[in-house]
Amino acid sequence: MPTYRIAPSLLSADFARLGEELKAVIQAGADWIHFDVMDNHYVPNLTFGPMVCQALRKHAVRADGSPVPIDVHLMVQPVDALAQAFADAGADLISFHPDASIHVDRTLQLIRAAGCKAGLVYNPAAPIDALEWVIDKVDHVLVMSVNPGFGGQSFIDSALRKIERLRRLIDASGRDIHLEVDGGIKVDNIRRVADAGADTFVAGSAIFGHKDYAHVIDAMRAELARGR
Ligand code: DX5
Ligand code: ZN
Repeated sequence: MPTYRIAPSLLSADFARLGEELKAVIQAGADWIHFDVMDNHYVPNLTFGPMVCQALRKHAVRADGSPVPIDVHLMVQPVDALAQAFADAGADLISFHPDASIHVDRTLQLIRAAGCKAGLVYNPAAPIDALEWVIDKVDHVLVMSVNPGFGGQSFIDSALRKIERLRRLIDASGRDIHLEVDGGIKVDNIRRVADAGADTFVAGSAIFGHKDYAHVIDAMRAELARGR
């Protein structure tokens, strides 16, 4: 069985209690913390910036003191200055939409040079062809299974075919690249998404919309452990 990761998205947390929500979801078993950055330009919504990431960074630790990776998903345009700012703010992984950067290869290099893992994010209608030319600089690929901008939307099924295709590409490359999926992930569809080839699952409303975060994360893990 592959190693699966669950990355709760703070987008659906109670923003008035962000620090507590972060701690609660870590205690409930989060593997990564997904941090959705929206600029009201690339997407029609506005969330939080590097200062909030920096403030949360010191609280993103497990009971044993080990850090929980902060997975920054940039839905911003332009990308480079904010990517650098989030690296400085303590992000561990930073992904961006290739259509938001004029020089994708340069942006990937910038993120890695800043000491972070670099990722590309593909919208539901975005082609993935260019990945071939930069795959040596990519640490994770994030497939959007909703149109970016809002939590609580329904999973778009064509994402499954894109995940299958990316899984083949990644395996053929022989590289250690995480394949992450974002949007509409629930207990009842996570197994299908894993079967398509994903190993990392972002979930916002499914987790934060339930009063018992551990219950949902455990149920997702049980689905993942179930096998085909
Ligand atoms: C949407 C964000 C997602 C969002 C997912 O633009 O990138 O990370 O939080 O939310 P759910 O899991 O509710 O679809
Ligand atoms: Zn996201």
